[in-house]
Amino acid sequence: MILSAVKLAKSIIRETVVPGDIVVDGTVGNGADTVFLADLVGDDGLVYGFDIQRAALDSARGKLQKHGFQDRVKLICDGHQNMDIYVDKPIRAVMFNLGYLPGGDHSIVTRPDTTLKAVEKSIMLLVPGGIVTIVAYCGHRGGMGEKDLLLNYIASLNPSFFRCISIEAVNQKNNPPILMVIEKKSSGYYC
Ligand SMILES: C[S@@+](CC[C@H](N)C(=O)[O-])C[C@H]1O[C@@H](n2cnc3c(N)ncnc32)[C@H](O)[C@@H]1O
Repeated sequence: MILSAVKLAKSIIRETVVPGDIVVDGTVGNGADTVFLADLVGDDGLVYGFDIQRAALDSARGKLQKHGFQDRVKLICDGHQNMDIYVDKPIRAVMFNLGYLPGGDHSIVTRPDTTLKAVEKSIMLLVPGGIVTIVAYCGHRGGMGEKDLLLNYIASLNPSFFRCISIEAVNQKNNPPILMVIEKKSSGYYC
């Protein structure tokens, strides 16, 4: 069965993250992905969750409390492009689910320049063997430009240090999302 971009991202993250890991949800939204990550890292792990909308973080907080995960998640109301201010330890994985908050204000969307900055910072913070997943949508204003910028960026990463893939539907209507994955190779010299 062919999985959706979001399900594929989750299955790759599930293969990578183990209990006790530190990970980042770069776009918390309503918190579905944050709950997923909090479950994977367990009691001894930590999730940093970023969103620029306080209402989204409040909704995510409620979800986390329902699952009893609130103590393993730090919710931060700031842009993911500033993640290095808050995250001071190496991380195993970063998830980005770009675009706008479903059911929210569709004019508040992720933006190409800040998303790129966040991805650049993510790969600096990753442990060797760590993963960044990006689900990008092209249907909204600016979405296509964001997707193209990120695709060009991951294609330019040094293959000695990073393995990058993209997966997209080629015969579906209505601009289905595309998945990009960056893996930091386990061996190599990083500066
Ligand atoms: C598609 S939604 C995320 C969905 C979410 N992962 C979930 O499971 O419900 C995208 C989110 O990115 C947020 N966002 C936009 N720009 C951002 C930025 N610079 N930093 C962090 N979050 C941002 C929006 O506020 C929105 O909530």
